[in-house]
Parts: sequence; C-alpha cells; structure tokens
Amino acid sequence: MVKATDRNYLADEQYRDAANLNARIALHQRFGTGEVPWHRWVFEQMDLPPQARVLELGCGPGQLWIQNRDRLPGGWAVTLSDLSGGMVEQARRNLADSAPLFSCVQCGAQALPFADSRFDAVIANHMLYHVPDRPRTYAEVRRVLAPGGRLYAATNGRDSMAELKALERALGIAGAADFTASPDFFDLERGEAELAAWFPHVELRRQEEELRVAEAEPLIAYVRSMGDGAAFTAEQLNRLRAQVEAEIRDKGAFRIGKVTGLFIAG
Ligand SMILES: C[S@@+](CC[C@H](N)C(=O)[O-])C[C@H]1O[C@@H](n2cnc3c(N)ncnc32)[C@H](O)[C@@H]1O
Repeated sequence: MVKATDRNYLADEQYRDAANLNARIALHQRFGTGEVPWHRWVFEQMDLPPQARVLELGCGPGQLWIQNRDRLPGGWAVTLSDLSGGMVEQARRNLADSAPLFSCVQCGAQALPFADSRFDAVIANHMLYHVPDRPRTYAEVRRVLAPGGRLYAATNGRDSMAELKALERALGIAGAADFTASPDFFDLERGEAELAAWFPHVELRRQEEELRVAEAEPLIAYVRSMGDGAAFTAEQLNRLRAQVEAEIRDKGAFRIGKVTGLFIAG
C-alpha cells in the first residue's frame, strides 16, 4: 500500500504524536512570506453564522483552533476528530482551557460516528490525501452535513515545494516527492473534478507564497519528518545540509515555492 494512505503507518508511526507535523508546521511558520498564516487564512474563508456545528476530520493537534482561538464565536460547537489516538489526545490537551466549545473523537474519515445532518460545516485540512477510499468519505460527509452545509477541503498544488522535491530526488532521498507521487494523490489539480462528482457547487481558493529558508536545520527536520529510517541515510542528509547551506550563503536563503488552496464544496 502507498505510505500516504497506509492507516497503520499513519496512525502508529507518522502521526503517532504531533512531532513530525510540528516540524513541518515550524518550517512554514518561520520562513513563510505570506501575509496571513495558513491556519488563520483557512479560518477566514469559512462563512458560518455565530451559532454553528463544525466537524474537523484529521484535526492533528488542533492548530486550526489554537491559532484562531481569539476570534472563535462562542456559539460554535466544534468536534475535532482524527484517526490517530495520539493526535486526538494532543488536541484535547491543547484546547483544554476552551473545553466547552470543543469535543474530541478518535475516528477515521471513512466511517463517521455521527447522526445524519449533524453539522453545518466539515473541514478536511491537508488530510484527504491520507484517506484510501475517498468516495466513502465524501458519502459520509454528505450524510453528516445539514442541508446547505459545506465541506472545506484544503490541500497542496502538484508543484508545491518543487525545489525541495528536486533536491531530494537528486540525492535519492525518499521524502516529500515520494509521499506525493501516487497518481491518485489528492492535490489541487485533481480535487475539483473529484469533488464535483459529489457536490453541486465547488469553488477553489488558492494561496501561493514562498518559503525563504535562512537556516538549514529546520529544513533538515522537515525532511526527516517525512520519512522513516529507510527513507535516507545520514550521508544523504549531510549532502542535503551542505547544499542548502551553500545556497543560503550565496543567496541569503533557500527559496521554495508553495502552492496551497481550499475547496469549498456544498
Ligand atoms: C497533515 S496532518 C493535518 C493536521 C491538521 N488538519 C492541520 O492542518 O494542522 C494529517 C492528519 O490526518 C490524520 N489522518 C490520516 N488519515 C486519516 C483518516 N483516514 N481519517 C482521519 N484522519 C486521518 C493524521 O493522523 C493527521 O493528524
């Protein structure tokens, strides 16, 4: 099975806890040049009334809510869910001081333990590419959405982080390039047609920015976070570090183009 959709690998290794994801988020947060941070931007795209029932699939440690806590309407009831028990536990701890607004549930996105028409919005932020049978998830999302409800599904463009993928490929590292290589990978290019088969209206809002990485170590941590022990050798990582450091010395930064976006479907 492709690693990106292998439930055991995802729940027990890659997302056993938030460490790998945090390493990737840290790179974006430290070196992103966009005006609005990603999780703040996603929140701003959601058009919901002061009273709303919201479900997040694949919530991770709850970054969407941590980063928007200051503007969360008090009338929202948010259910956070994730395949990984470790992630659900982390999200619960991270949001403990706003507990009445949030509930946390461990579940995969292919079988949702919720009644029909239970939510006004479902969010799937950078997680649909991990779901082996996406049609099952789309059927489930439609079932749990109330009439007029919407799915907010975010992912990357095919060429996102191309400079990093090219460097990894040149060095034989099985990193981001391998993770996204499957022809079935849920990316911005594939998503619109796929969602249109399930939802009458689909809109894509894109967000492009550049990472200007001015220190090698956070990038090495990012690369490490994508692979297990078999994905690279210490020597490959040293060569990667040397190339990135040389580029930072010569040009001030290792620049990486980033293409992300959000589908709004309903
Ligand atoms: C890239 S992280 C995104 C986390 C969070 N949405 C964010 O944007 O910060 C993907 C998350 O999806 C979860 N996940 C993977 N496969 C899943 C599935 N089939 N059902 C539900 N969650 C899943 C992982 O455990 C992980 O927490």
